[in-house]
Amino acid sequence: MSSKLFSPLTLRQLTLPNRIAVSPMCQYSAEDGLANDWHLVHLGSRAVGGAGLVITEAAAIVPEGRISPQDIGIWSDDHIAPLRRLTRFIEAQGSYAGIQLAHAGRKASAYRPWASAVGSVPLAEGGWATVGPSALAFDAGFRSPAEMTIADIEEQVNAFATAAKRALQAGFKVVEVHAAHGYLLHEFLSPLSNQRTDQYGGSFDNRIRFLQETVVAVRKVWPDELPLFVRLSATDWTEGGWNADETVALSRQLHALGVDLIDVSSGGNVATATIPVGPGYQTAFAARVKQEANIASGAVGMITDAIQAEHVLRTEQADLVLLARELLRDPYWPLHAADTLKENVAWPPQYVRAASSKTPLRSSVDYSAFD
Ligand SMILES: Cc1cc2nc3c(=O)[nH]c(=O)nc-3n(C[C@H](O)[C@H](O)[C@H](O)COP(=O)(O)O)c2cc1C
Repeated sequence: MSSKLFSPLTLRQLTLPNRIAVSPMCQYSAEDGLANDWHLVHLGSRAVGGAGLVITEAAAIVPEGRISPQDIGIWSDDHIAPLRRLTRFIEAQGSYAGIQLAHAGRKASAYRPWASAVGSVPLAEGGWATVGPSALAFDAGFRSPAEMTIADIEEQVNAFATAAKRALQAGFKVVEVHAAHGYLLHEFLSPLSNQRTDQYGGSFDNRIRFLQETVVAVRKVWPDELPLFVRLSATDWTEGGWNADETVALSRQLHALGVDLIDVSSGGNVATATIPVGPGYQTAFAARVKQEANIASGAVGMITDAIQAEHVLRTEQADLVLLARELLRDPYWPLHAADTLKENVAWPPQYVRAASSKTPLRSSVDYSAFD
């Protein structure tokens, strides 16, 4: 059988070796936004494990855009070299590196998950003042953001573009703009967090303006031959919030602006929303985007099994699957999935003794003399 999961995916001039991506995952382990040995080993292991695309955690475009003080960032040239180290290693494994560019908006300056407190880190403990479309706090324990001025919005659009330029210098082949999970760009999309009365609030066209401007600015500096992704939350799972119809309409517009794939997630903007989490709970949204907006889509959310992933792709619900927690449990998930789907996927030569005898190597090293 020739699987979809292990078929290449070409987006612009980039051909991913398979359709398995490491979904962005904050590691809350950086100082001053600088990627370090943890990020190299964490992301590098997933490239060794055979994921075709390895996307970094949310990388902050400005220091105030970090979710937690321990996030990685790309707000200065000093961030480039340590990121370059990651991309070099990832590509040496036959995989490609992507970076998620992010601003956390009103959810910035938060404690990392294993801290003893939740919500905003106080200024006295290294936290900072937050910004958003309107002065509405995300939840109890989070500070109220300052409403952004038009000049603030322009500044962030430029910061996204400058970050994309640095990402290119760092060797990334995919940029993903984070417009999901209740962070800054999503906050503008949703009428629940955006109550502005200027050209950035109110109507659908006004609420999507900031993201459109961001995408145009990023596309201008990101090479034509490389793909651009946008991650969206398809729905706020809340009456009166951002919804799936709007996601489809926005995806159509983003496609026209040069976006190549919509990474379709959900939720994150309403602390009290009830989300029907379960296997493949978001894939129906990815399918709508792919079919109705006529753009490639990525499916994410409780995809844990090779057959399940293959089914998502084969039924044309998505072009790419992104796995997060399952790849934390098992960095070698793609190699195991290849066994399940009876695909001859190359193992790293260093690990060949663990692979089946028929498995090819990623290099032409002949190990027979050592057996
Ligand atoms: C530890 C952890 C950190 C995450 N950080 C990010 C992030 O930086 N950016 C993002 O878009 N999603 C983030 N997510 C969400 C995942 O990318 C993914 O969408 C979600 O976990 C659902 O996929 P899964 O069921 O395969 O885990 C994170 C998830 C986890 C578990």
